[in-house]
Amino acid sequence: MPGRYKVRSLALATAGRHQIRLAEHEMPGLMALRAEFGEAQPLAGARIAGSLHMTVQTAVLIETLVALGAQVRWASCNIFSTQDEAAAAIVVGPHGTPADPQGVPVFAWKGESLEEYWDCTEQILVWPGAGDDDGPNLILDDGGDATMLVHLGLQYERAGVVPPDTLPGEPDHTHEMNVVRGVLRRALESDPLRWTGVARNIGGVTEETTTGVHRLYHLAQAGELLFPAINVNDSVTKSKFDNKYGIRHSLPDGINRATDILIGGKVAFVAGYGDVGKGAAEAFRGQGARVIVSEVDPICALQAAMDGFQVARLEDVIGEADFVITTTGNKDVVRVEHMLALKDKAVVGNIGHFDNEIDMAGLAAVPGVVRTEIKPQVHEWSLPAGAGADGVERRDRSIIVLSEGRLLNLGNATGHPSFVMSNSFANQVIGQMELYADMARPATERQYERQVYRLPKVLDEKVARLHLDALGVRLTELSRDQADYLGVPVEGPYKPEHYRY
Ligand code: NAI
Repeated sequence: MPGRYKVRSLALATAGRHQIRLAEHEMPGLMALRAEFGEAQPLAGARIAGSLHMTVQTAVLIETLVALGAQVRWASCNIFSTQDEAAAAIVVGPHGTPADPQGVPVFAWKGESLEEYWDCTEQILVWPGAGDDDGPNLILDDGGDATMLVHLGLQYERAGVVPPDTLPGEPDHTHEMNVVRGVLRRALESDPLRWTGVARNIGGVTEETTTGVHRLYHLAQAGELLFPAINVNDSVTKSKFDNKYGIRHSLPDGINRATDILIGGKVAFVAGYGDVGKGAAEAFRGQGARVIVSEVDPICALQAAMDGFQVARLEDVIGEADFVITTTGNKDVVRVEHMLALKDKAVVGNIGHFDNEIDMAGLAAVPGVVRTEIKPQVHEWSLPAGAGADGVERRDRSIIVLSEGRLLNLGNATGHPSFVMSNSFANQVIGQMELYADMARPATERQYERQVYRLPKVLDEKVARLHLDALGVRLTELSRDQADYLGVPVEGPYKPEHYRY
């Protein structure tokens, strides 16, 4: 049976509501969309399954979707990222009370187990009274877990395989995959055609982040994508703002709340110099750290060098680093041999989407290692004495690992601030409206196929425009003559698709 909601405590709702009220003031993009589209109700009839960090900012997103007519069910996309007071406030709703909750069903709390996490993800895909046409008809995803559950469930169903038997080519060794299979097995036991029903109703997904977008392009290239997808991440007003300026704010926030160690004067190593890495490196430099960057891409490595950062391999500088932060979206970036060679009390953290950037399982398996919880999401790992990768004999050392290797800005702090998330989430709302409007068209007239699309540049510029007044920005206007000279419309869009910002 689909649940009504599952959060830490509805008693936190008032605290959450106060924070939501303040966040609304800092989210002009979302509030402008409510004002523009609230009356027209463009999402009336939309049933959105949302899987995205259940923070205060996400609460404003959820209530914007509702204000535009949608029904919503929500889970977090990370076991540590929920702000319990925001989850409570969303369940209670602006007009309900803890005794009479009238808001949106949320299944999320800070500190879920992996089993609980995947159960919550399933809960957003199962709707009360779900008859044939009752399930969600849109997914709003961050990292692609909700989308993956539907695709994997359908693959099992079609192959006639009962988990935990594995599908051809499927990795069968990870604990998390086994948890996912358990959820799928229970779902298929209760309804052998569960995923056929869910997949048939879903008309599309909007995806928030780089890692989820990678997954979608893989599915599309393999011809396996079940519904159209909008890549929100690569709207300029998302990745060039949230991934960079959001990280510039929330990375030091996470480190400070977790450790309170002075950053100035220390050596900070940042793996990856994409959008997130650029924000991370700038944040460390802003605090007065000496920053070393690593890259596999020569263009990004050259950018880092031109921006004034030392570019080196982790193994060559490991003994110097006071902080090691991964931002790559890749796996196995910080490995056991690196961690064994770190300085005493060095801080290790990840800010990319998944926890496989740092080999936590390998660390736990080191003979003699001892893990001590300093406080939730902050652990000291005492390392055995012995030779580091640099051949230097070390003893009595420990390192500090944040959020068990999961994204630390959401595990140790509260993620990006509202203003930058207003840009990202305005793109999400516009993406949901695009897909839902397309679903209403006759099949022969639909614009979106089972591919991955970006929003048109004119909408990207619109999202930016919605945030200018709040910062006191006055745009210069092109004259007709100047516009003709540049070959662009006076009202935009101003740049060709290939422009990189
Ligand atoms: P990106 O693709 O722009 O940057 C990643 C960079 O890492 C690339 O330049 C790549 O060449 C480099 N890289 C890959 N493997 C490497 C290795 N072994 N060593 C050194 N560098 C390596 O991606 P973006 O947008 O910067 O996102 C990175 C990750 O952060 C993704 O997982 C994304 O989903 C996540 N993300 C997290 C956020 C948060 O709030 N914590 C916010 C936005 C994105």
